[in-house]
Amino acid sequence: MTGLSTLITQRRVLVCCGAGGVGKTTVAAGLGVAAAVAGRRAVVVTIDPARRLADAIGIPHLGNQPAEVFRPEDSGGVLAAMMLDTKATFDGVVSRFAASPEQAEAIIANPFYGNVSATLSGTQDYMAVEKLLDLHDSGLWDLIVVDTPPTRDALAFLEAPRLLTRLLDNPVYQMVTAPGRGALRLVGGAARTVLRRLSRVVGAAVVDDAVAFFRGFEGMEQGFRNRAARALALLGGPGASFVLVASARADALDEASWFADRAAAAGFAIDAVVVNRVSPPTRLSRAEADELAERLSGAELAGPARALEELAAAGAGERTRISALAGLGGGGPVTEVPQLASDVSDLAGLQAVAGHLAARP
Ligand SMILES: Nc1ncnc2c1ncn2[C@@H]1O[C@H](COP(=O)(O)OP(=O)(O)O)[C@@H](O)[C@H]1O
Ligand SMILES: [Mg+2]
Repeated sequence: MTGLSTLITQRRVLVCCGAGGVGKTTVAAGLGVAAAVAGRRAVVVTIDPARRLADAIGIPHLGNQPAEVFRPEDSGGVLAAMMLDTKATFDGVVSRFAASPEQAEAIIANPFYGNVSATLSGTQDYMAVEKLLDLHDSGLWDLIVVDTPPTRDALAFLEAPRLLTRLLDNPVYQMVTAPGRGALRLVGGAARTVLRRLSRVVGAAVVDDAVAFFRGFEGMEQGFRNRAARALALLGGPGASFVLVASARADALDEASWFADRAAAAGFAIDAVVVNRVSPPTRLSRAEADELAERLSGAELAGPARALEELAAAGAGERTRISALAGLGGGGPVTEVPQLASDVSDLAGLQAVAGHLAARP
């Protein structure tokens, strides 16, 4: 496994994944800061709807286009940040592939599209991948850091490039665009099941709109398929790495290994593991703290001695779990970020995080 500091200076794409609340957004922003400090032009993209990226950087708002947030003195690097707007990005994709402005307008004005572009599960992830390709193709960035939503959605992100092609392979689309087939009465059982499922999400009046929507895509499939293939090649290629962010808490280990397994099954390898919010080491070993607590039991300092022993025991548990986490990233070193004294809510805090991320082992 390549050290994280090498990934920060050499990769084109870093995808931060892991369970919610472990510090993914903080680490993603920290990686961006570290890259900027190392002289790279970096952009952090968040698809986390919780606005945590703006909070972490300490700015009020982030838009759908990269905005500069940090320019370290003398490094030549820069950090920009953006928060994905799924609908705006989807509209851009439709416009890109439409044969004419009229075709794009017809799709964008379709009520079914309006619902799908905002609510279909996986759309957000798909658009994040779209945005990633877009930023990559712009040639403006040396490094793109992607912050993903919590674990339960993470597979959707990994599979996002396949989403639209799956939609195009779906029986409804196949039926309504098949040459010689006409109205919905000709739609077969499988397609009807799909439509019924969709109508539960977006309402019963959807059927006509849906048919019109799928018809509206005629001639655009190849563009979508090509782009999905390119996205998969970019994410699965040597320029991209997945960074698994985990905490050393007892319940975090299972989630982290679950994610690593699923990522591997989807064909993406974890190249680095970051353990966040690691407890500061105690001065006494667990055995020493135990002995001290024994000796002071009943004395005035029994309480603090007990607390120290508990801290040392918790620290020892963390060390065991951190060694287990190392296995998830191919057995190489794990990068540790300590629990900081306060929440990370400005550039100073992020620079502290970045210092740990870019430290050489
Ligand atoms: N190393 C750290 N020390 C102190 N607070 C942290 C640290 N890492 C993250 N936090 C705080 O934990 C909270 C969750 O972090 P966040 O990055 O939003 O997690 P996630 O994106 O995984 O949901 C935030 O309030 C953040 O400031
Ligand atoms: Mg987050």
